[in-house]
Amino acid sequence: MSQFETILYEKQDGIAYITLNRPQKLNAYNTRMRDDLYEVLGAIKDDPDVRVVILRAAGEKAFCAGADLSEFLTAPSPLVARQVRWERDVWGRFLTVAQPVIAAMHGFVLGSGMEMALCCDIRIASADAQFGLPETTLGIIPAAGGTQTLPRIIGRGKALEMLLTGSRLDAGQALQVGLVNSVVPRSQLMPAAEEMARRIASFDTMAVRAVKEAVIRGLDLGLPDGIKLESQLSANMQYAKLLKQNPPHER
Ligand code: COA
Repeated sequence: MSQFETILYEKQDGIAYITLNRPQKLNAYNTRMRDDLYEVLGAIKDDPDVRVVILRAAGEKAFCAGADLSEFLTAPSPLVARQVRWERDVWGRFLTVAQPVIAAMHGFVLGSGMEMALCCDIRIASADAQFGLPETTLGIIPAAGGTQTLPRIIGRGKALEMLLTGSRLDAGQALQVGLVNSVVPRSQLMPAAEEMARRIASFDTMAVRAVKEAVIRGLDLGLPDGIKLESQLSANMQYAKLLKQNPPHER
């Protein structure tokens, strides 16, 4: 297991586990966590042994209670504090990691905690999870993509309701609006995430990565271009498989 200051990282049987690990501060996202996540996601991206990633959190009460508000007090203004925090493109890394990322969430999932989850591919919640983006109520706006990722996942009306009112959704409501893929009892959160991760990990790595890329890049395209992208990825994959079966020096 590699040790970082704010996260734990371990790998087992093709599954990488990133655990947010500031439970005494409800895993609030601070500058150190930003650097740790940036580093670990960079390593995962280039690690052929990792087939699926699970993002989870330590402690009983929270997946992540949002940006570390104490850092707001150490900067000239909340905006400057946020600028510092977002300087490294952790969100870009979340979105471009080739392997599927499953978020396994419990307790409070607020602010940047929720934005992190929105950058993941599959979201599983325990029944005690609560979701919210309180930024507007604090006089700021989400800065980790929330205004863009949330409407793409739950649609414009529901996204604006959450963003404008700062109101929270419980796990059942999150399931209803499609914010999470499933809700399980707390004791089943990791077993459910691991079962899904193992299933995905058992499939052809190239196919898994290509389908993720097709969906994520395709969502930013019109349908005709999306279909071209799918054909291109399919052709690339077939070519890569042929090359693997018949390496050039053996032909
Ligand atoms: N940043 C920094 N520290 C935080 C934090 C945050 N976003 N959220 C919680 N903490 C800390 C608390 O300061 C407290 O630390 P302490 O024990 O040293 O005083 C500890 O985590 C436990 O939090 P506490 O407020 O006592 O737990 P609670 O169960 O009473 O309330 C919340 C939980 C999530 C409702 C409450 O902590 C909260 O509102 N947090 C801020 C949420 C937020 O606005 N996030 C920013 C979004 S931009």
